Amino acid sequence: MAILLDGKKTANDLNEITRNRILKLKQRGIVPGLAVVIVGEDQASQRYVRNKHKLALKLGVNSIIKAVPATVTENQLLNLIAELNHDQTIQAILVQDPLPTRLNEQKIMQSISPEKDVDGFTTTNVGKLYLNHSGNYPVACTPKGIMTLLQQYNISLRGKKAVVIGRSAIVGKPMAALLVNAGASVSILHRYTNDITEYTQDADIVISATGVLRLLDSEAIKSGAVIVDVGQNLDENGHLVGDVDFETVRQKAAAITPVPGGVGPMTIATLMQQTVDLTEWGATNDE
Ligand code: GUN
Repeated sequence: MAILLDGKKTANDLNEITRNRILKLKQRGIVPGLAVVIVGEDQASQRYVRNKHKLALKLGVNSIIKAVPATVTENQLLNLIAELNHDQTIQAILVQDPLPTRLNEQKIMQSISPEKDVDGFTTTNVGKLYLNHSGNYPVACTPKGIMTLLQQYNISLRGKKAVVIGRSAIVGKPMAALLVNAGASVSILHRYTNDITEYTQDADIVISATGVLRLLDSEAIKSGAVIVDVGQNLDENGHLVGDVDFETVRQKAAAITPVPGGVGPMTIATLMQQTVDLTEWGATNDE
């Protein structure tokens, strides 16, 4: 039976460290500021943004939400981001994805200053990740949170076979880069992969980020594998579940993340951690 990779507990511990770092910054007269831009009325996005805001306030972050109507023009949005880029009270900017399709998402995300890019989505920060730069730069929060969770449970990656299912800019691609940088051999699978089980059955670590209900059952995985489930799906009964058939897979895996209570809390804790990282890095540069 697999051990549970408890994202909720690990996130709570990380949040406690973040809260203390914020207290220390406040003693120096510095308050980390996070601006979250949300466009339109998407219910799931609004819920995520509310949760981020609540946690940020609880930890002592100066959190502001910029809610703009779905009718916003690209220029208005670019102007808002430019204002935030120049705002001395804001160290971290997040534009909630997805944006309405008529907006040029790449152009908008790339207009965020790399020094305030708390999601690590700008080409500058993605490039640093791919080149495995030393030094300080933000990384996409979900993959980085997964790395923290694996570290917490002493799951070694060097020399391991890892499979990432999903090739998004938010999860799949940065996840693969982090795993490669940590010494794993990585396959990235996606909708055009003919037979995903050909890869997953051989993998020591499987990260699934597809949004496909019951994509993986116990037949699909190797005995003793580590399974990380990034999926957020509703089952037939309206319950939140991942991509993995949890009950059968947990019998065969060595370790598995639950949904809910696995990757989700780690993402938001990492967002807070990186808000403070950006603030500390900026404060060092200013001194
Ligand atoms: N939408 C879903 N996940 C994320 C994320 O990590 N960052 C942003 N900006 N939008 C998202």
